[in-house]
Amino acid sequence: MKVINVGLLGLGTVGGGTANVLNRNAQQISRRVGCEVRVHIASVRDIGAPRICETKSFELTQDPYEVVNDPSVDIVVELIGGETLSKELILAAISNGKHIVTANKALIAMHGTEIFAAAADKNVSVLYESAVAGGISIIKSIREGLAGNDISLVAGIINGTTNFILTEMRDKGRSFEDVLAEAQELGYAEADPTFDIEGIDAAHKLTILAAIAFGTPLQFEKVYTEGISSLHLQDVAYARELGYQIKHLGIAKALEDGIELRVHPTLVPEKRLIANVDGVMNAVLVKGDAVGNTLHYGAGAGAEPTASAVVADILDIARALNLSEDSKNAPINVPALAFEAQSIKERKVMQPKEFRSAYYLRVDVNDVPGVMSQLSTVFAEYGISIEGITQKEPAKGELKVSVIFLTQRTQEGLIDDAIEKIQGMPDVLDKVTRIRVEHLD
Ligand code: HSE
Repeated sequence: MKVINVGLLGLGTVGGGTANVLNRNAQQISRRVGCEVRVHIASVRDIGAPRICETKSFELTQDPYEVVNDPSVDIVVELIGGETLSKELILAAISNGKHIVTANKALIAMHGTEIFAAAADKNVSVLYESAVAGGISIIKSIREGLAGNDISLVAGIINGTTNFILTEMRDKGRSFEDVLAEAQELGYAEADPTFDIEGIDAAHKLTILAAIAFGTPLQFEKVYTEGISSLHLQDVAYARELGYQIKHLGIAKALEDGIELRVHPTLVPEKRLIANVDGVMNAVLVKGDAVGNTLHYGAGAGAEPTASAVVADILDIARALNLSEDSKNAPINVPALAFEAQSIKERKVMQPKEFRSAYYLRVDVNDVPGVMSQLSTVFAEYGISIEGITQKEPAKGELKVSVIFLTQRTQEGLIDDAIEKIQGMPDVLDKVTRIRVEHLD
C-alpha cells in the first residue's frame, strides 16, 4: 500500500491532536483513502517538552526547515500560528513542491492571496478547513456543498473562546478573567488572547468566509471589528428578559449596493437555533438563494475537533495523490477561494455609518418627568422607529433608571447621530450603550 508522509510544523494542542487522530484511526483512514497516511517528521520548539501524543514513530526536530525540505514529506501541515515564520515555511514548502494544510486563519486572511498564487504556480494545494470554526466543515460546505447558490448572508459564532466566556459568565456568574484563564488551559484561546476577546480572530475567520461566499478578495482590513471586553453583564441580563441572547457574531451580508463585513456582540432572538449555541461550540448560518437558511454546528476549538478538520484536509490530498499517476502532483480541483482566481471581484464594502440593523439602546437617565418624551422626540427627529421600550425600576433610594429601547431596522449613521444628541441631554447620565440586533430570519 502506498504511504503518504506528513510533516508537522508544531506539535502543540492541534499538532498533538492531529498525530493522535492519524494514529488512532489509521485503519479507517487507509480504508477511506486507499493508502497509508502517517506522520514522518514533526518540528517542535522544545524537544523535551511534555506532549499529548506519542512521538516514537516519527522523527522530531527543532528545525522546522528540516520538515519543509525533507524529500520524503508529501504534505506539510502548518500548526505553529503567527504570520512571519509560518508564511516563510509555507512558501518554502510550496517551492519544494509540497502540498500544504494549515489551521492558520490569520495567515490565510492576511496573506492567502500570495500563498494561493504561489501554490497555483507549483501546482500544489493549500487546504485550510481547520482555520474557520474548528471541526465544522464550513469551508467545504460553502466551497462545494453550496456552490450552486448565490449566497447573501453568512453569520456565525466563530470564536469558541468568546462564546465560552459569555456562556460561563451568564450561567455561572464567573468573572471574565477566570473563564479566560480556563479557556487558555483548555487550548481554546489564541497565543495572544486579545485576538479572541477583541474580535480579531473572528475577523480573520469572517474575512475567509466572506471571500469564499461572495467571490470577493480577502480583505481583513475592511472588517469592522468589536470584541466583548466592553460588554456589560447587565445588558446580557436585560437582553434575556426581552427574549434575546447576546452572541459575538461575524456577519457578512451581500446587499444591492455592497457588502457588510462586521464582527461584534449582537442580540439574537432566543428562538433562533444559533442563539442557543453555548460554550466552545461554533455555529455558522449560511443563506443561499436555492437552499435557504442552513446552520452548521460543532466544536470551534480544542485539540481533536480542530484535528478532525486538519486530518480531513490531509486525507483529501492523500486521496488525490494516491489516485494520481504523478506521485507528487495532484492538486485538488476546487479553487482555493471557491471562485476561479481570475473571477474574484472587488465589491464596495459598506462603512459602519451605512450598516443597516436594528439596535438595542440602554439609556441611563434621571427618573424625572418629561425625560421619556424628550428621548422619543430625538428618535422621531432622526426617523428611527421604536419597536419596544422597557424601563427598569431604580435601585432603592436612587433616581437613576435604565431605559431600554429596541429599534426597528435603520441606518447606523442615524442611530449614532441620535445617540450623540441624547448624550448631550442634561438628564442623561452615562454613555448610551448600543448593541446591534439581528433577527436572522
Ligand atoms: N482561539 C480560537 C477560538 C481557536 O477560540 O475559536 C480556534 O480557531
